[in-house]
Amino acid sequence: MRWTLAALLGSALVARQALAELTFTVEATKNGVPIPQSEIKLEPLEFGIGRVGHGTPAQGHRRFRRANIAATSANWCGSVNTASSSNQIKLVHASFQHPTCTKRTGATYPQAAANWAGIDGDSHTSALLQAGTVCKIDSSTGIVRHEAWWQWVPEAAYSVTTIPVAPDDWIEITINTTSTTAGEITLTNLSQGHTYTITIHSGPALARLNADWVVERPYYGSTLAGFPTFSDVWFDEAYATLVSGANLGILGAKQYQIPDLCASKEWDDMHQVSWSL
Ligand SMILES: *[C@@H]1O[C@H](CO)[C@@H](O)[C@H](O)[C@H]1NC(C)=O
Ligand SMILES: *[C@@H]1O[C@H](CO)[C@@H](O)[C@H](O)[C@H]1NC(C)=O
Repeated sequence: MRWTLAALLGSALVARQALAELTFTVEATKNGVPIPQSEIKLEPLEFGIGRVGHGTPAQGHRRFRRANIAATSANWCGSVNTASSSNQIKLVHASFQHPTCTKRTGATYPQAAANWAGIDGDSHTSALLQAGTVCKIDSSTGIVRHEAWWQWVPEAAYSVTTIPVAPDDWIEITINTTSTTAGEITLTNLSQGHTYTITIHSGPALARLNADWVVERPYYGSTLAGFPTFSDVWFDEAYATLVSGANLGILGAKQYQIPDLCASKEWDDMHQVSWSL
């Protein structure tokens, strides 16, 4: 099935339709057996994750285990590694366990934490291709909703509603670009053998400079969500492959911190953790 924004969002959103550059197809398997197209469901996610234009570079360097350059951000907690324009990023990979999220006393609702891997959105701000999971708490009831999603910013985000997500589920993400405007996202629940492959035929131009592994405090419209408390998110096998075939890895990546809310730290070149405070 070939999806377009217009088909998913309906004809009322004329302005959005005019902007839409995104076309994609979705295929899925469970334990290697194809899931019928009729059982694959995507819905527009109600908010934009991965809003571009975050962050303020930190003053100087902070000495962590890897002596990484640190930076502060209002909404990104995690690692960003940057390639050169002569040898761009082709592929980004990560595995992580979806965290347990609980409401943070005193923070506004909704509260949400989105865990994702992606390409661009840091030094290249006009586009970002990303996929991951999100936990969201709407009100003081503390009931947490978990979703898998992807987005090619500035296009709308999609929730893949047929991937159930629960705390501790192992999620594996591969984003494999074939050009600056096309690529494939593979979202796998390693715990149960679900694999979703989203093939994007055209999207907003990437520079393919930034490889990102992030826990994000998302925006709802123009308002930042409250940040819940969540269990540590370890990005395992966090690597990025360059167009040349070389591995950029995560070694020496810039570490974004959200002051007073979340810290990120690199432990070795394939292993990085973000935790809330
Ligand atoms: C992912 O795995 C967990 C078990 O760890 C399971 O509860 C959940 O339903 C799985 N989701 C999918 C989409 O397979
Ligand atoms: C990534 O895409 C290339 C084609 O551009 C393909 O040859 C390669 O097998 C893909 N890698 C993965 C891990 O999917």
